[in-house]
Amino acid sequence: MKIVFSLVLLFLAGCVSTIIYSSKGEELYSNKCSGCHRLHSKTEFTSEKWKSEIEEMGKKAKLSDDEKRMLIEYLTKDGLQAAKP
Ligand code: HEC
Repeated sequence: MKIVFSLVLLFLAGCVSTIIYSSKGEELYSNKCSGCHRLHSKTEFTSEKWKSEIEEMGKKAKLSDDEKRMLIEYLTKDGLQAAKP
């Protein structure tokens, strides 16, 4: 069952984009936030700092409220665990 589900996901992702991101947040982050500076690692800042940065940077990157929400979710959900390879 898992395999079928993965194949369906891969298929859907393939329709939308040739690059497969593991989440919408990741996709937004690499598309919208890498234009002006390197991508900061998730683990570089605390959740609080990310939230305020995304408010600030959201203006620069012209993010919608929805996009900001997805980015905050992506950047804060793993916290320091994201340091694992
Ligand atoms: C239009 C250019 C531009 C875009 C797009 C942009 N940034 Fe930035 N960012 C900057 C500049 C310039 C600075 C440094 C000056 C400042 O802090 O305002 C900065 C600084 C930062 C910092 C602070 C680094 C530190 O050491 O405190 C973070 C975090 C950050 N950006 C995240 C993001 C994220 C997340 C996005 C996507 C939503 C994004 N940026 C999109 C221009 C941009």
